[in-house]
Amino acid sequence: MSIVDDIAFPAPRQSGCPFDPPPAYRRRATRLTLWDGNPCWLLTDYQDVRTVLSDRRFSADARNPGFPILVRGQQELRNETPSFLRLDDPEHARLRRMLTTEFLIKRVEAMRPGIQRIVDEALDAMVAHGPPADLVAEFALPIPSLVICELLGVPYGDHAFFQRQSSRMLDTTAPAETTRSAFEALTEYLTELASGRQGRADGILAKLAARSDLTLPEVAVTGLLLLVAGHETTANMTSLSTLALLRHPTQAERLREQPELINGAVEELLRYLTIIGSGLPRVALADVELPGGTLVRAGEGVLGMLSTANRDEELFPGGAELDVTRDARRHLAFGFGVHQCLGQPLARAELQIALSTLLRRLPTLRLAVPFDEVRFRNETVIYGLRELPIAW
Ligand code: HEM
Repeated sequence: MSIVDDIAFPAPRQSGCPFDPPPAYRRRATRLTLWDGNPCWLLTDYQDVRTVLSDRRFSADARNPGFPILVRGQQELRNETPSFLRLDDPEHARLRRMLTTEFLIKRVEAMRPGIQRIVDEALDAMVAHGPPADLVAEFALPIPSLVICELLGVPYGDHAFFQRQSSRMLDTTAPAETTRSAFEALTEYLTELASGRQGRADGILAKLAARSDLTLPEVAVTGLLLLVAGHETTANMTSLSTLALLRHPTQAERLREQPELINGAVEELLRYLTIIGSGLPRVALADVELPGGTLVRAGEGVLGMLSTANRDEELFPGGAELDVTRDARRHLAFGFGVHQCLGQPLARAELQIALSTLLRRLPTLRLAVPFDEVRFRNETVIYGLRELPIAW
């Protein structure tokens, strides 16, 4: 962690409430120096963040000079085929378009019975040998992993391998060799699957592999993006949401009494917890004056902080409080602009089903350890919990 201007980045969250953005991110715009010595803007205001994410003068392509590198090993991966998360249009749009039908709301709605079955089975298994239990390992992680495996055509039996490698890849404190070897292990694995060398592949991976307009590295890296984005995020949201509800028992009670509030509650939890805690990286391709007056020069990197944007007092009055009846629909937890989360209909369905089922089936759900013994994941791009010991 490097000390910069007058704030450390990434700043610790836990100085106050662990659900709140770090108090150090109070200023609208701060110049800081990243771990690699490169300067960068930290932008925290809702309108500034939205501009950075939707204005074409900001690039998501990490090969551009000045792009902020958050994970140490990412620097070394610059020459690898990038996923469309790290490409600008039109290349980004060409690749993303190949997947949009797979994640349409209508498609995801049809997946709900299957997701409910996965949730019920995970809960049955947890209840069969608990309490106590670790909600992360037994519920929050298996649900999105099983769903994305089915969708991609990746054998769930390999979950210990790909979960471990994706955690290593997202660890901002890991040495570069760790990130690189995790990336290589995962791309090799997905290349084997996509090329049919590891037995039969079906699902999205096979569909992509069958296309003549995609190279094998493009297929593998797209599979990698979906596999990692598809399980790490939703798993952390599920466990962190459960903890937030346990800390706000009146909100949990409200949801038990009025289960029809679940969809709005999930939006509020997405807003309140905003698990992409590191900020979204972009680099300016031209001089841009942001709505708040900050002038970002061409070649300067920026980090758009979703967590502080989602606490904007004008849009979300009293936003430091969790309120499951709030209209939180304008939150930026899934990003904004052309890169806005492709998997959001799926993430919403998984969270709605997992949380409502958990609340309904375990009315006496509680923490099995004191709150200050709960271990948070501060060192990864995606905020979350290492484990969540629960009882009922
Ligand atoms: C609660 C769960 C999730 C959260 C909070 C989340 C958040 C985000 C955010 C903030 C971005 C924008 C990144 C940027 O602009 O730099 C993003 C992009 C993306 N997400 Fe998610 N995500 C979640 C779940 C999922 C799931 C379940 C999938 C897939 C199955 C997924 C696939 C993607 C993909 C492919 C992109 C890249 C889109 C693009 O570059 O066009 N995400 N996500």
